[in-house]
Amino acid sequence: MKRYERFAEEISELIRSGVLAPGERVPSVRQASRHYAISPSTVFQAYYLLEKQGLIVARPRSGYFVREQAQRFLNEPEMTQGHPETADIAVSELAFSVLGSLQDVDTVPFGSAFPSPELFPLQRLARSMTKGLRELSPNAIITDMTAGDTDLRRQISLRYRLAGMHLPPQELVVTNGAMEALNLGFQCVTQPGDLVAIESPAFYASLQVLERLKLRAVEIPVHPREGIDLDKLADSLAKHPIKACWFMSHLQNPLGASLSEAKKQALYGLLKQYQVPLIEDDVYAELYFGAKPPVPVKHFDDEGLVIHCGSFSKCLAPGYRVGWVAGGRYAESISRLKLMTTISPSVPAQVAIADYLQHGGYDRHLRKLRLALESQQAQMLAAAARYFSADTRATRPAGGYFLWFEFPRQVDSLRLFQMALAQGISIAPGPIFSATQGYRHCARLSCGHPWTSRSEEAMALLGRLLTSF
Ligand SMILES: Cc1ncc(COP(=O)(O)O)c(C=O)c1O
Repeated sequence: MKRYERFAEEISELIRSGVLAPGERVPSVRQASRHYAISPSTVFQAYYLLEKQGLIVARPRSGYFVREQAQRFLNEPEMTQGHPETADIAVSELAFSVLGSLQDVDTVPFGSAFPSPELFPLQRLARSMTKGLRELSPNAIITDMTAGDTDLRRQISLRYRLAGMHLPPQELVVTNGAMEALNLGFQCVTQPGDLVAIESPAFYASLQVLERLKLRAVEIPVHPREGIDLDKLADSLAKHPIKACWFMSHLQNPLGASLSEAKKQALYGLLKQYQVPLIEDDVYAELYFGAKPPVPVKHFDDEGLVIHCGSFSKCLAPGYRVGWVAGGRYAESISRLKLMTTISPSVPAQVAIADYLQHGGYDRHLRKLRLALESQQAQMLAAAARYFSADTRATRPAGGYFLWFEFPRQVDSLRLFQMALAQGISIAPGPIFSATQGYRHCARLSCGHPWTSRSEEAMALLGRLLTSF
């Protein structure tokens, strides 16, 4: 992260946390330059960025001020309810019918699970694929099929190392996206009929995995910013024979919540106490807005209980279907299960990503991507404050590209979904994120696409549709 980005992040944090109030003057260029020991041009660069993100405005001859809109950001939702009793899961029908209608490229993609393809270096990746394949030794096209491309595993291991974790390439298995990693993880540590703990709300595909594997779930409440309720989890672990947990400790989908480092450590303490494995879905690991990359629960894993699942789908190469799993004590079984099912992701896709990680400027791309997502988030939040009623609640995650909206109770998000789709706008309605089809008055909206006048009009139209309930 460049100096001006770091400084902009500090100011943005002060605004987000309310220390700098709407309408208040931000430090003058001279003050900031002296106080933070940075040059005036660095301060200017940071302020231009914050202006672009919609957080501050320049007033001629007076300086920069926190935007009034910041005040009009909607309130945050409260802790979710969860479901302390066990539940069978039947979400697939609903999820398939909703997701099937999100494919149309002409709709405004607020329901999409992926950021805009425009934000990815697809041409550069294509060059990496050609070069990587030209340089690939003939043997590797066969040997790399087992645990995965050697260079790719080395590069992933290196990135773990930079984040302070020692996970040698031999412990990593490359998978067909994180989805396969999650499936294999669950298959490895559960039997049909077992009980697992999940977040409420949870990513719909994880619910489909549980449904397919005939697992039952205890839904644990989640705070929209601070993540899972550890007291409730401790209660459930004490009360029920939970065989595994499936959690996202960072940028949880759909809420965007992230656990603090202390909470991640405490969560690991509980897992150790009950000897329950955690399947940690960390597909949004690279999409943080802050200055410092957050560490996963895997960071504290001294007993190999965490099955850490990552992916390039959301941050670099959607459609390449390349993810990985660091399986801890389950690594060997996971690797065997993979050999018995899909054998391997496509070697050319792995080779392309390996070459790109080494030579393509991955960190530069990620910095640009994070800035784009942060600016799009600010624009969607500002639009929501303009067009949705003041009793709507919205999350404001510190990364990623999802916002979770809690509308007034009378709103039926499944009906809203149909009405919006008929007008060319997709949304992801709340019930697809719940094992018990709750969250009927909620929806997840994606801000993963560049903000345009069409996005603005779509938010205004959603606002009008919401008044019909
Ligand atoms: C939370 C979460 N986990 C896993 C996945 C699947 O990732 P992949 O595309 O790498 O299989 C997604 C994709 O939507 C996701 O949102």
